Amino acid sequence: MNSKKILVIVTHPDIHKSVINKRWLQELQKNTDIVTIHQLHEQYPDGQIDVIAEQKLLLEHDTIILQFPLYWFSTPPLLKQWQDEVLTHGFAYGRGTEKLAGKRIGVAVSAGIKAIDYEQNGRYHYTLEELLRPLRVTIEYISAEYLPAFACYGVEHGIPDADLDANAEQYLHYIRELSVENYCVAD
Ligand SMILES: Cc1cc2nc3c(=O)[nH]c(=O)nc-3n(C[C@H](O)[C@H](O)[C@H](O)COP(=O)(O)O)c2cc1C
Repeated sequence: MNSKKILVIVTHPDIHKSVINKRWLQELQKNTDIVTIHQLHEQYPDGQIDVIAEQKLLLEHDTIILQFPLYWFSTPPLLKQWQDEVLTHGFAYGRGTEKLAGKRIGVAVSAGIKAIDYEQNGRYHYTLEELLRPLRVTIEYISAEYLPAFACYGVEHGIPDADLDANAEQYLHYIRELSVENYCVAD
């Protein structure tokens, strides 16, 4: 039973070319005493998700973080597929069968766009938390607790090494604390 560990489900279509998700992953890999790392693309290169294995992994953990790069203001497709196939009726929802009820589920998101553009008065008018509402309501629908998002913005604009290091450190702190909202602002 890994209930004391945090399950981090990493979804990145090309982690080798990644900047921030790879960096976050490296931090997690140094801390496997507190996290279980589960990489969807590495586990399922053919896209055939083992639903039973995924559900078992979820049941074994009380706190789950979905880590991914923002794609069209949403999740990468494999993580959407994972939601569709794993969060099934009779497992995640349905009267008396909400097996993930009470678990804490959060998101760690990287964004190519700068933080300033994600302000209400910014270029796109919506904050990241607003854009993450479909995920939030999904988590609440299955009677789990939504944790405030951890984010790193502006990745496509380049992040100085020092900021990258600082953000990676904050990510680990977020993972450890899971109650603090941290944001990396990389303008
Ligand atoms: C198909 C696609 C869609 C994307 N959509 C968004 C988006 O909606 N908002 C955003 O801020 N960045 C978007 N990006 C940029 C990625 O989020 C960014 O490159 C990623 O978070 C960087 O993380 P990485 O270094 O781990 O790859 C998109 C990138 C791709 C390839």
